[in-house]
Formats: sequence, structure tokens, C-alpha cells
Amino acid sequence: MNELSVMMRKTLWASLVMSTTLIVGACAAQQPAGADDNLYQALGAAPGIEQIADNFIMEIAYDPRVFDRFADSNVERFREKIIEHFCFIADGPCEYTGDSMVLVHRGMDINSAEFNAVVEDLIDAMDKAGTPISAQNRLLDRLAGLRPQIIEI
Ligand code: HEM
Repeated sequence: MNELSVMMRKTLWASLVMSTTLIVGACAAQQPAGADDNLYQALGAAPGIEQIADNFIMEIAYDPRVFDRFADSNVERFREKIIEHFCFIADGPCEYTGDSMVLVHRGMDINSAEFNAVVEDLIDAMDKAGTPISAQNRLLDRLAGLRPQIIEI
């Protein structure tokens, strides 16, 4: 793959992000709120999580450490599932309908440097969304528990 094609795919991914409509905006209507939706609220509820997800996708799209991993992925599906996933693990009123973390990432041979890079992208995404640091740390803490399900080497 030459540099031009990488650039073109990055541009395509980024423009898809810009044009994607807020498909999971109705998330809150799916289920009654969980017993403790404090983290969900601290993240800004549905609009806050959607903003984090959009920023996250942009960070990944311009991160040479990991972009190639995502280059052939369906960005609209990724956006929908990552919003559901963040909402669900933050005890928000959403059901996660994507594949399990093990199944999705199996066979990708994701290493810890790549995992850390994606976490850094998420931190930048949350900073840009104005997510309070305490809420960032609580979400990151829950995601850290998924590390063994995602990393293979
Ligand atoms: C905290 C860490 C991570 C979380 C919470 C996470 C979560 C997710 C979720 C929810 C999906 C969508 C699943 C679906 O479509 O059913 C997904 C897909 C994906 N993830 Fe991750 N992920 C993480 C780390 C990583 C890392 C480190 C990489 C690679 C560097 C990666 C690569 C991918 C790719 C390529 C897809 C799309 C797969 C496809 O197109 O079928 N993920 N991830």
C-alpha cells in the first residue's frame, strides 16, 4: 500500500465520520436506566458519549500508530457499536449489540503498544469533548479490565 492510498483512505474515513448522522441518539429509549448511571451522566449522557465517539474516531483516523488496523472497517458500524459499548459499560440505558471483545479482536495480534495508543486516542477524544477528568478515569478504569480480552501478544 503506497502513501497516497493511505492518505485517501484516511480522508475517506474522516469524511465518513463528518457525514454520519447521529444514529444512536435514541439510545436512551431502549431500556430503563441502570441501577447506577452516575458514570453515564458524568460522561454527558447520550450527547456526551456520541461526541466522545466522534472525537475518538477522528483521533484514530489520524493516528499512524493504529490507523491501518481500522482502515478496512465499516466506520458507521464501529461508531454505532462503540457508542453502545461506552454507554453500556458506563451503566447507561443501552444494550450493547456488537460482538464480544474477544471475538472482535481475535486474530488481530494486537500488542500492548497498540492498545496503549488507542487508549491515548480515547483520552484525547475525551479531553476535546470536555469530559471531566474524574469521569475519564472511571471509564478508563473499566476499559482497563478488558485489556486481556483484546491483547494477544
Ligand atoms: C479499550 C480498548 C478497546 C475497546 C473498548 C474496543 C472496542 C471495540 C468495539 C465495541 C468494536 C465494535 C465491535 C463490533 O463491530 O461488533 C471494536 C471494533 C474494532 N476494534 Fe476495538 N476496542 C479496543 C481496542 C482496540 C485496539 C487496541 C485495536 C487495534 C489496534 C482495535 C481494533 C478494532 C478494529 C479493527 C475493529 C473493527 C473490526 C471490524 O471491522 O470488524 N480495538 N472495538
